[in-house]
Amino acid sequence: MTETQRPAVIGVVTASDRASAGVYKDESGPAIEAYLSAVLTTPFRIERRIIPDGFESVRDTLIELADTVGCDLIVTTGGTGPSPRDLTPEATLAACPRELPGFGELMRQVSLAQTPTAILSRQVAAHRDKCLVINLPGKPAAIELCLNAVMPAVPYCLDLIGAAWIDTDPARVKAFRPKK
Ligand code: MTE
Repeated sequence: MTETQRPAVIGVVTASDRASAGVYKDESGPAIEAYLSAVLTTPFRIERRIIPDGFESVRDTLIELADTVGCDLIVTTGGTGPSPRDLTPEATLAACPRELPGFGELMRQVSLAQTPTAILSRQVAAHRDKCLVINLPGKPAAIELCLNAVMPAVPYCLDLIGAAWIDTDPARVKAFRPKK
């Protein structure tokens, strides 16, 4: 097995003061896990974190997952809105030097077809070396919608940054890799 064929490590991060304090049950993190299990056909393991909102909390978790755990992909949920403690996008960009603006643009576009408040999500995607980070809004309803929109490009994006090779079930999501 070469380095690029090893099982992917995928971080699933819920940023929520209330979920991390046990005030309510996190539904969005499990929805991300369920989505990945249903869509990915290549081996992977999940690293879960449920953390408070806020800049340092999210930034430090992303850096730990990317650098120490060795995640290839991290999907976050929550903290993307305009409330004072919603700092997931700032934290993501602090952890990841290079933004991929198309991800946020597309996710807001598909979300707007469902809800006018989709424009309130400041969600971004960016990468830290060989780890791609994608922000999703905190609402469980946003998870499948947003991931369906961007997932066709995620495997090739991981190829380009030198992360693990992943593939999807074409019956669910058709991964697009340009022909060499
Ligand atoms: N996108 C989708 N697809 N579905 C939603 O319900 N909620 C919006 C927006 N994007 C929503 C969505 C709302 S109400 C807010 S405030 C922002 O995401 C930010 O949510 P967050 O702070 O939980 O990340």
